[in-house]
Formats: sequence, C-alpha cells, structure tokens
Amino acid sequence: MTAREIKPADGKMLVFFVGMGAITSTVLTGIFNIRKGLHKPIGSLTQMGHIRLGKRTENRSPLIKEFVPLADINDLEFAGWDIFTDNMYESAKHAAVVRSEDLEPVKDEMLAIKPMKAVFNHEWVKKLDGPNVKTGKNYMDLAHQLMDDIKNTMKEKGCSRAVMVWNASTEAYHKPCEIHNTLADFEKAMEDGFHPEVAPSQVYAYAALSMGLPYINGSPNCTVDNRAIQELANKMKMPIAGKDWKTGQTLMKTIIGPGLKLRMLGLNGWFSTNILGNRDGEVLDDPANFKSKEVSKLSVLDTILDAKNYPELYGNYYHKVRINYYPPRGDDKEAWDNIDIFGWLNMPMQIKVNFLCRDSILAAPVVLDTLLFIDLARRAGMYGIQEWMSFYFKSPMVAEGLYPEHDVFIQHTKLKNTLRYMMGEELITHLGNEYYDYSKED
Ligand SMILES: NC(=O)c1ccc[n+]([C@@H]2O[C@H](COP(=O)([O-])OP(=O)(O)OC[C@H]3O[C@@H](n4cnc5c(N)ncnc54)[C@H](O)[C@@H]3O)[C@@H](O)[C@H]2O)c1
Repeated sequence: MTAREIKPADGKMLVFFVGMGAITSTVLTGIFNIRKGLHKPIGSLTQMGHIRLGKRTENRSPLIKEFVPLADINDLEFAGWDIFTDNMYESAKHAAVVRSEDLEPVKDEMLAIKPMKAVFNHEWVKKLDGPNVKTGKNYMDLAHQLMDDIKNTMKEKGCSRAVMVWNASTEAYHKPCEIHNTLADFEKAMEDGFHPEVAPSQVYAYAALSMGLPYINGSPNCTVDNRAIQELANKMKMPIAGKDWKTGQTLMKTIIGPGLKLRMLGLNGWFSTNILGNRDGEVLDDPANFKSKEVSKLSVLDTILDAKNYPELYGNYYHKVRINYYPPRGDDKEAWDNIDIFGWLNMPMQIKVNFLCRDSILAAPVVLDTLLFIDLARRAGMYGIQEWMSFYFKSPMVAEGLYPEHDVFIQHTKLKNTLRYMMGEELITHLGNEYYDYSKED
C-alpha cells in the first residue's frame, strides 16, 4: 500500500475551546500535569496505545504516537471562549472535578488562560446567562469577530495551525431546515439579523472552517450535521468530527450491547438513568436541551442490535434514558442500567450496572485524542466527515445514506486500520489462516 502524503506537524498548534467549563478545565489540568511529568496520560489512546503492524510473527507494535506523525502535546497552545469570565484555574475550582493537589502545581498555566467573549443566544440554552458575550449587528458580524479572535490569538501565540473543539453547553434540539440546504442559504440567514434557526454553535463552526480550522463537536448539537456547513468543510478541505463524546453510560452501552448481540442473547428492555449535579446537568434539565442528548443517547442501541435482521431477539425492546439533575452530586455522576435479557428457552435474565463515574475525567483523554487525530487528518488531506473517529462519539457522523457504526470494537478496528492506511501499512483483517497448514495447500 502507498502511504498518504502527510505534512509534518511543524511548529506549535493552537487549540481553541468553545466552552471552558468542566471538561475543558479538566483537559487542561491533565495536559499541564502530564507535561510536568506529574501524571501519565491515562485513558489516551494516542499517548499510551500501541498498534500492531504486519503479521503476529513480526512482533511490530509501536506506540501510536510514534507510528503516525501526531503533534506533540508539548507543542500545543490553548485559548477559547466562554460566557463566563472565569480563568481556567477558577473554572476548574468551580467545576470541582480535579483534586486541588493536581490543580495547584499547574496554577500559573491555568490562571493565564482566560476566555474571550462568546457568541451566545439565551434562546438556545435557557438555563444559562453570562456576562462575557459579544454583541454585533447580525450572526455574520459575530462570526467575523470570532475570526478576528482566531487570527489575533494565533499571531500572538506564534501558531501556524489551529483546531476548534466544542466543549460548550448542549443547545436546544433543532433539526436542519431550509437555511441549511446550501452554504449560500446559510450565509444569507447569518446576514439576516439573528435568524432563529442559526445556532450559536454554527457561528463558531462557520468561523473555524472559514479560517482553515478543523471542527470537533463534543456535544449532541446538530451543528455540522447539515449540508451547508459540510459544503463549507469540503470547500475549505477541512475535516469535521462528532458528535457527543462517548463517555460514561453510553460507553458501557456500546461495550455491553455488542457482546449480547454476538452471543445471540435477546433484549426485552434497557433502562438507563443517572444523577448528576454539574452545569451540564443543569442545562440538560431543560426539556429542549435534554431532547438533543436523548436523541444522541437513544440512537446507540438500534444500530448495534440491528432489529431488522434479528426481529426475534431485538424487534421489541423498550429503551429508556433518563438524566436527573441532582446538585449535591456535582460532577460525580452515578449511573444505573437495568438490562432485561433473555436466552435459551426464552429464559429471562437481568444485568445491573452501577457506574460511579466522573464524566469529565472520562472525556478529557478523548478530547486530547480527537484534537490530535483531526489535526493529523487535515495534514493527511482527509477532509469532510471523519467517520474513522466514531470510536470517540456517542452519535457518530457518517456520510449521507450510511448508518453509523456504534459498536466500539468495530470502531476501534476501523480507527487503527485508518492509521495503517494513512501510513501505507497492510490492513489487518484478523483472518490469520496463513499460520495454518491447510492454507499452504491452497
Ligand atoms: N462531561 C462529559 O463526559 C460529556 C460527555 C459527552 C458530552 N458532553 C458535552 O460536552 C459539553 C461540555 O460539558 P461540560 O461538562 O464541560 O459542561 P460545563 O457546563 O461545565 O461547561 C460548558 C461551558 O460552556 C459555556 N457555554 C455555553 N454556551 C456557550 C457559548 N455559546 N459559547 C461559549 N461558551 C458557552 C458555559 O458557560 C460553560 O462554562 C456539553 O455539551 C456536554 O453535553 C459532556
């Protein structure tokens, strides 16, 4: 196989975070600790994972970061926007995810990162309001203000390339409509005051892609799930990836779900509920915002279980997802799953999962991996939707007409094969019959 031509990861790369709350402050606390050698990058495939190359007899399993030319985490710079003025030290304190013994050693770095003024519209996040918000005559004007922020910060920090990551609150659920049919329609709507169907997240995505920045959507927002913005991504030859970080309960679902299906065990019902008390939980307490999350969380099982081909096993299961805002818990979410399955002779059985997880701790390495991978994709000339990054998302983006692959094991295989493909290495099918005598007789 011939390797793709990949531009080197020269110089520094700027990471722009939209939303500088729990996840962003946890990502940064972790990265600064790792740079100082105080912690290992636990949970990060790009930093800790190996990849097998060639036959099992070749014993070639380099670290992923030594196999593909990723940006070094020491070469990253950070900036971002939030509707609150808290610097990253204050934000981490407020989110109360990380321990103070991990925050204090990186206090100076965290104090130095302060959010720029955000593009925000209360109609899209009814539970929030903040003082650090841009004003302008229309959304296009605000997009240009963001572009100025991008240009000025890149210059100030001496960075030749950048990426944008959406870590801001979940917006109300809106499907794409006529203004999203073409880029021209969308630009017209942006110039037309504050059109109710233009989401603030779309203004950021528009600014990023127009400036040659890849865009990653960590929330369930439908920001780039439309023709207009994808047209822009293709025109600018920029990669996009999303959506909704696959952490906690959904990660478990995409691990357990494929296992049930592989063993042909049936499903009567899957009830998922959880309590969380962080700002994300508060925003999701509004039904319009919860709808975005619900759509993203519910979509997972349908494609994994494939009821069309397995009607006796999965034709009639009941799937319910609940998120309960419960302030005393803060970011220490607790999730319960009750899974009613059936087996041989239709015998009912139950699986109970009680996951006491920390969402932002699970999300942080995923954010790091995706921003490094999307930068790699850009340098490898891979633009538009990056389906190979599905591994990291609850509701993966795919080309029109395709169904998304939710099975985490297939997603993982796909990701690794994409890295092999980029580097011109043989793809691994796991067939492996060349090790046995019968294949030598063929
Ligand atoms: N924590 C997880 O594991 C997890 C998993 C999957 C997805 N997500 C999604 O990631 C996003 C961030 O989660 P979090 O826990 O960090 O939430 P958070 O509430 O702690 O932080 C979000 C920040 O975004 C800011 N914000 C809101 N609208 C903005 C705008 N238009 N521009 C700039 N800033 C804006 C808020 O002020 C807040 O500080 C949410 O959409 C959440 O649903 C989180």
